[in-house]
This record gives sequence, structure tokens and C-alpha cells, in this order.
Amino acid sequence: MNSSRRRFVGAAAASLLASRSWAACAPAPRIRTGQGLRPLPNLPLDRSPSWGARGALTAARSNVDVGSSAVRVMSYDGGFPGPVLRLRPGETLNLKFDNQLDVATNLHFHGLYVSPSGRADNIWVVAPPGAGFEYELQVAAQEAGVHWIHPHVHGHTAKQLFAGLAMPVIVQGEIDRDSELAQAEDHVLVLKDFGIENCEVAAHTPTDWIFGKEGEWLLVNGQLRPVLRAGKSLLRLRLVNASNSRFWRIALDSGEALHLIALDGRFLGQRMEVAELLLVPAARAEVLVALPDHRTRKLLYRNYPRVGRNATAEQPILTLLPPASPQPVALPGRLMNLERFDERLAEGHREVRFSPMLINGKPFHHHHQGGHVAPTFEVRAGTREIWTVHNDDVMNHPFHLHTWHFDILSVNGRPPAIAAIRDMLNLSPGDAARIGIHFSDFSGRTMFHCHIAEHADRGMMAVLDVR
Ligand code: C2O
Ligand code: CU
Ligand code: CU
Repeated sequence: MNSSRRRFVGAAAASLLASRSWAACAPAPRIRTGQGLRPLPNLPLDRSPSWGARGALTAARSNVDVGSSAVRVMSYDGGFPGPVLRLRPGETLNLKFDNQLDVATNLHFHGLYVSPSGRADNIWVVAPPGAGFEYELQVAAQEAGVHWIHPHVHGHTAKQLFAGLAMPVIVQGEIDRDSELAQAEDHVLVLKDFGIENCEVAAHTPTDWIFGKEGEWLLVNGQLRPVLRAGKSLLRLRLVNASNSRFWRIALDSGEALHLIALDGRFLGQRMEVAELLLVPAARAEVLVALPDHRTRKLLYRNYPRVGRNATAEQPILTLLPPASPQPVALPGRLMNLERFDERLAEGHREVRFSPMLINGKPFHHHHQGGHVAPTFEVRAGTREIWTVHNDDVMNHPFHLHTWHFDILSVNGRPPAIAAIRDMLNLSPGDAARIGIHFSDFSGRTMFHCHIAEHADRGMMAVLDVR
């Protein structure tokens, strides 16, 4: 090899190294402390008064860094988690989805109050590898809150979700501009536990399919224990639990209360002080944290005991550094007029029973995502119903209903600790919860299920036909 050729090879190798910006494959990620929290980018959208918002989204395999380790994940637009889809109340979204994975996938707009049919939040649609689907949906006029997108292909959701397919959806409403909330510094935080084996996403074990997969690394926006340096004295943290099965109990290390303002994309009637917050899989919460002094605070993870899973040690997940000149802050009191469910208007009562991998004694049909699944319930569009949801199992199961939020009327005969309109409900063993649902505005075939992704994949899912 002559010297100019050698120089050329050397330069090519150097530029290859330089362009390979991710870390090397390491046996396990090391926690790099002090890394600044990376804000998630927004998904670019084209807006026009005539067509609304247009965008594109790609699911693909990507290399990302977790701590100091490189790992090959599944991503939306290369992100782990994916970018934030920011929508406005009342607008139409046209989203060209492109599946560059080697497996079929689709998008579920978890929590968004949109049609479950046609090209909207239609989970019966599947994009084969290399194909796409053009989603189109109309954001409700009264919407303001945090939702999220994840895949919903029966039998495959758990693996794809664990591998990284998740992204937040934020609808910015009037209340965000016209209240004390406008003074807060807004951060979207995706909570996800993760496991890595030889630079690949950790595989599911047989026990994972029973108890739900957990990973040892507790990530915030794909980072291990990042640091948020606040610019303002009031933080608004918008939390999304994008874990397959991990229940997160969140608290401040200072012992101060969290100021809870919203759950599952719906504001509470008024701000509530909570010593800690339980986020079941797929749940969202918005909390305000005041930083009126020079103290450093930490957001803590605490274990929630679950059958079949070892306890994870309490640990900090996010450090909150105060702003340069901390100030006293004003917190909002009243937030919204909660529209509570009126039991006198209920036209139907139903019983839902969760038992191991079954709902009302039946598994979801495994072989078809499409038309062959008989509905467990047929509901008349526009009516109100009360469902009693029983957990007959020894495990916790987080109940989720698509499309319609519900009012939790009682849990084991008592009013719930927090009055809220939600789309997630934690069912402990033996629990019976009564929920009120108004099947307003939309019709179509949709579903309710346990949101431990492995349980849903194995059949803890049922079809609801609203006509
Ligand atoms: Cu987030 Cu059918 O689920
Ligand atoms: Cu959902
Ligand atoms: Cu379950």
C-alpha cells in the first residue's frame, strides 16, 4: 500500500469513527451522572388553516446511547422515546406513517378523544413491514393534556413497546395560556424501564409473559438519572409512564408534596397536594414543583410491590437544580369544572371480570387483529353506562378503555382517593371498581384491556362495539 492510499484509508476510518457518534457496545450501561436532561424534540408539522396540521412519522430500528452504552432499539423518527406530537384543540391532523421495521406495526393514540374508526385511532389497521398508513384525525375542541402514541398490534405490542416505540402527544389548550400554568416551565418526561443484553433490547423471558416485563434501568426521556437545570421557579412536569408493566411511585426527596393538576390527559377540578404519585403503565400525570429557594431536589422512584416481581430499590430518577435567582411562586387553585358522571342517567350496567389472561372468562382471539373478533359488549352510541370492573386475580391489572375516559365512582364501595376523569384504573387483587362512561360522539369497534402489555398480548383484551 503506498503512503497516499494509506493516508486515505486512515482518513476514512477516522471520519467513520467521528460520524459514529453513539457509544461503544458495553456489557451494561454505566450511569453517567450529571448529564443534562435532553428535551424531546417536537415532531415537525406543516400547518394551514385549510388542511390543519400535516406531518410524517417513521418507525425504524435505530442505534441510541443509554448511559454510556450503545443499543439498537425500535424508534419513532430515531428517538428513544420518539418526538413530541404537539396538537391544538379542534385541528385536523394528517400523519403519514411509514413502517421501516421488519415487523408489522401501527399507531394507537392512547387517551386522545378521537374516533376509533376509519383513518383515525383505528387499532384494527396494521402497516406491514415497508408499508405505511395515512392517519387522519380531528382533535376535540375541549382537549388539553398529555397523551401518547404506542403500537397496538395484537401479540406484538409488548416487544415493540419495550424496544422503544413510544412518544408523547400534547394538546396545548386555552387553560395552558390563561392561567398560572403559563408561568411554569414545561417539561415532558417519559418514564420507561429498560433492559439491555449485548447491545440489544433485552429479550422477554417466560416469566415476563406472566408478570409483565420490567427492565433494571429506570429511564427518563431515555436517559439515566439526568439533571434538569430549571430556568424558572415553577416547573410543570408532564409525566408519561411508557413502561410495559412497571408501576412507578413518584415522590420528592425533600419530603415536600407534589402539586398534582392532571391525570391521564384530564385536569383535576383543583390542584391537589400528594405526598406521592402512583403511575400505573400507560398513565399520565402532570405535577407542579416549586423551586423557590437554592435547594437541589430529586424526583424519586419508589417500588410498588407486585406479585412475581422483585422489589426495585428506591432511587433518584431526575435531579432538579434551582434557577439562578429563585422566587416565590403562585400556584393555581381551581383548574376546571369537572364534569362528573351522573349515575341517574346511566342506561346500562355491566360487569367486567379480570382473571389470569382472560376478560369475562375469554381470551382475546389471537390470530386476527381484524374483523373476526366477536365483541364482548355492544353499546348504543350516545348512552351512559356504569361498569363494575372486578379483579379476580392475585396480580394487579391496570384497566384501560379506549376512546372514552371514565369517571371512577367508587373502589370497593368507597370514593377514590382522587376525584378524576381517567383512562387508566389500577385494580389490586380482589378490587371491584365502579366506573361511569358516557359513550359520546363516536361509534366503532374498539377495546378495553389490561395495560400490562404482556397481558394484553396474551389475551387480556376485549372488544367493544359502539353503534
Ligand atoms: Cu395504551 Cu389499547 O392502549
Ligand atoms: Cu388506549
Ligand atoms: Cu394484567
